[in-house]
Amino acid sequence: MSSAKLILDGQEHEFRVIVGTEGEKAFDITSLRSATGYITLDPGYANTGSCESAITFIDGEKGILRYRGYPIEQLAAAARFPEVCHLLIYGHLPNREELIEWRRQLTLNSYAHETMINVFDHYPPHAHPMAILSAMISSLSAFYPEANTPETLDLAIMYLLAKAKTLAAYSYKKSRGEPIMYPLAELSYAANFLRMMFGHPAEPYEVSPVIERALDLLLIIHADHEQNCSTSTVRMVGSSQANLFAAVSAGICALWGPLHGGANQAVIEMLENIEADGGDYKKYIQMAKDKQSGFRLMGFGHRVYKNFDPRARILKKACDDVLSEMGVSDPLLDIAKHLEEAALKDEFFIERKLYPNVDFYSGIIYRAIGIPTNMFTVMFALGRMPGWIAHYREMRLERGERIHRPRQVYTGENVRKWIPLDER
Ligand code: SDX
Repeated sequence: MSSAKLILDGQEHEFRVIVGTEGEKAFDITSLRSATGYITLDPGYANTGSCESAITFIDGEKGILRYRGYPIEQLAAAARFPEVCHLLIYGHLPNREELIEWRRQLTLNSYAHETMINVFDHYPPHAHPMAILSAMISSLSAFYPEANTPETLDLAIMYLLAKAKTLAAYSYKKSRGEPIMYPLAELSYAANFLRMMFGHPAEPYEVSPVIERALDLLLIIHADHEQNCSTSTVRMVGSSQANLFAAVSAGICALWGPLHGGANQAVIEMLENIEADGGDYKKYIQMAKDKQSGFRLMGFGHRVYKNFDPRARILKKACDDVLSEMGVSDPLLDIAKHLEEAALKDEFFIERKLYPNVDFYSGIIYRAIGIPTNMFTVMFALGRMPGWIAHYREMRLERGERIHRPRQVYTGENVRKWIPLDER
């Protein structure tokens, strides 16, 4: 095993080198401060690994994304979302028997506690669905205290996966003053969500197979992405041994930001602004290059992917397929394609390796399905649920990680004497 040597204040220090199963290399600085008195400084953690993980592998240079070793392209083409949930959380694709029981449990546990339904009535109609979702997910620990212990983690996992979509649909129905819909045993995860969102108790709701498949694909594409901002938040909160519901609620809040999962809503709002501005996308390309403008091309750029985001490629094709199968066209898709085309030829974007990310095309499909724009990030959260759960479980059960507590470099005042009020 090779090592890394560091010479500090004339002293040589050696650190163990770790090589991952895909050849990623790191040197372990666990003993750095005790051995040298120094810490590292890495704002945004761009060069810092917080953990070893066996869940998802990303190669940002080659545009590779694999869940437990399976390429995202294969899962997107062949899997259904419940299978991917099981794969990410428990590490293997369920066999037929396991899948039947897993899906049965997901449906049986889809119902939300009846008292929770009243809570929705106390939110103002304009409340953002992410504010409601994060609060209701954390509240699951109050309504299901039996699922709050390490011994009942599998129960909490099932409750969270099964109930999150129901709570999201309820918040939508309640915001419109419409009667809520209960899940049906014979429907898939995606079909149940669509019926709970757009169905009405007074009449049957036919789920379109095209839309059901499109939603399944969107959920799979968002299911995990290693140590992104929201997943790192879940691991941070979980490291204090807070329960799963509390940790995922914190992850939902982190995802909400426009630089992270909130970007899918910001992309559509950006495309709508460009359309309202006569479709002049070249003007917005110029604005994105002008730091003074304060404008960013939302849905572009990524901390890890430096050539392309494989998910954006899959979703760009899915946009064409879903819209043509639904017989709809969307002017925002044309604007998005023009923006991508122009940016990919522009030195500013090429130099900074800025390409469409997962959020650039996803909103076009959500729009076609009928999801309201302010629920786009809720959809991202529903997709990311299994990833957050898998990382929490890995950290708590398989790694037994210490509480996360980074250090800092203090740059404030040196010691000074108290000044009585009349002398200030
Ligand atoms: C997600 O981490 C994950 O895995 C996240 C995610 C997941 O699945 O969990 O993939 C989901 O969050 C995707 C990203 C969604 N966010 C957006 O689309 C918002 C727009 N993009 C950015 O703000 C930005 O690109 C980030 C946040 C995605 C990445 O930020 P970084 O790595 O901190 O990069 P940076 O802000 O330091 O930018 C580097 C340079 C800067 O220019 P210079 O100062 O070097 O001249 O690129 C520029 C930035 O100004 N830049 C952009 C830009 N993104 C970066 N310029 C214009 N438009 C953009 N979108």
